[in-house]
Amino acid sequence: MDNPKRILLIVGGGIAAYKSLELIRLLRRQGIGVRAVMTQSAAEFVTPLSLGVMSEDHVYGDMFDLKEEREIGHIQLSRQADLIVICPATANILAKMAAGIADDLAMTILLATDKPVLAVPAMNVRMWSHRATQRNLTMLRADDVQIMDPDEGEMACGEYGPGRLPEPPAIAERICTMLAHPFNAALTAPRAPAPHPSARADRLAAQPDFAEESPRPLYGKRVLVTAGPTHEAIDPVRYITNRSSGRQGFAIAQAAAEMGAAVTLVAGPVHLVTPPGVIRIDVESAREMAAEVEKALPADIAIMVAAVADYRAADIAPQKIKKKGAPPAPLSLKENPDILAGLAQHSRRPKLLIGFAAETENIIEYAREKLAKKGCDWIIANDVSGPKETNVMGGENNAFHIITAGGTESWPESSKEMIARKLMEKIADAITG
Ligand code: C5P
Repeated sequence: MDNPKRILLIVGGGIAAYKSLELIRLLRRQGIGVRAVMTQSAAEFVTPLSLGVMSEDHVYGDMFDLKEEREIGHIQLSRQADLIVICPATANILAKMAAGIADDLAMTILLATDKPVLAVPAMNVRMWSHRATQRNLTMLRADDVQIMDPDEGEMACGEYGPGRLPEPPAIAERICTMLAHPFNAALTAPRAPAPHPSARADRLAAQPDFAEESPRPLYGKRVLVTAGPTHEAIDPVRYITNRSSGRQGFAIAQAAAEMGAAVTLVAGPVHLVTPPGVIRIDVESAREMAAEVEKALPADIAIMVAAVADYRAADIAPQKIKKKGAPPAPLSLKENPDILAGLAQHSRRPKLLIGFAAETENIIEYAREKLAKKGCDWIIANDVSGPKETNVMGGENNAFHIITAGGTESWPESSKEMIARKLMEKIADAITG
């Protein structure tokens, strides 16, 4: 699977901030994922809601609660992006960047990142031509920050000259070039007339998209997905785990996001890129996964794909266990919480609760028993027998047997991405039908 390109868009506080909504729309049409961070003053010009709707992701900023720093730190935000774009980049942001000031989330990201940075300035013509701004730009260019020249023309303040934000298609093209991502000009065709840059222009800018594009079947639905294995520590360096790669769960999360759902993906330790628009929470152990699943509620649909370790070490050794010449003490195990069964009993049980069952024999029979035992609505059974090279666990393909109260449906083997899309279509039919 090609990893989709992702940008982190820092929206500064200027009248041109409303154009960031159009920019997000165009980038997403080009297949580029966008996660937005806004400065406090940007919130005077666009709302977090509009940016969130356009990016279909959580919007980050200092004006929100501090627990974000725990859930997804500034380092993580930059790590998950291929490129950081500041649009509009105000004179203030440029000055702070040149001086290395980190006094809010956006500036901290910019100081901490090792990713390429593109600044798209927009400001009053006098501010643009001021020697301080030009000096800052020279310093930033020397620091390898790419600066997109502003357009010349009439400004929101009535003056004329350089300082206008370039049009979003031109910015999108520049971003594609920096990402080495093919740019499709046909996807930037003009739409409704540009909205007036008033303080509420973001609302106007956001609306035509939904009138223009056909509604996606899971728009407005919250989907929770678990994926990957868990690591159950034995001592500080050793753990119990399994061969799950997380690919199937990530593909399902991606398909759900593409169909318009707000997706939270609780992932065990895997080396996979977060699908665009998906909120990912990384965990290690089954107990951490259970706690994050609980926090992610409520959800309309939960798809528990993770291969959660059934057992953990009864006692985790505080230091590395050493060889002592004699046979080691037997490892005693304790049962982990069953996240799926817990959700089935939960007061906020998702409307559609789906579990997976990896089996090596009597696949359908065992899966049907599991459906009853766990109390979920569907069980998707996979045959994980066979050699490691062609095994479903860690492999590229999968075949599903979908077991419900009504019967069993078996789908032929296909790629994990294809089967994920087919599954999400079936889910959308079930939930909206
Ligand atoms: O019991 P078994 O591990 O085969 O069940 C598999 C299903 O239950 C999967 O959907 C898996 O994500 C879920 N599960 C869980 N918590 C556990 C064990 C399994 O949610 N502790």
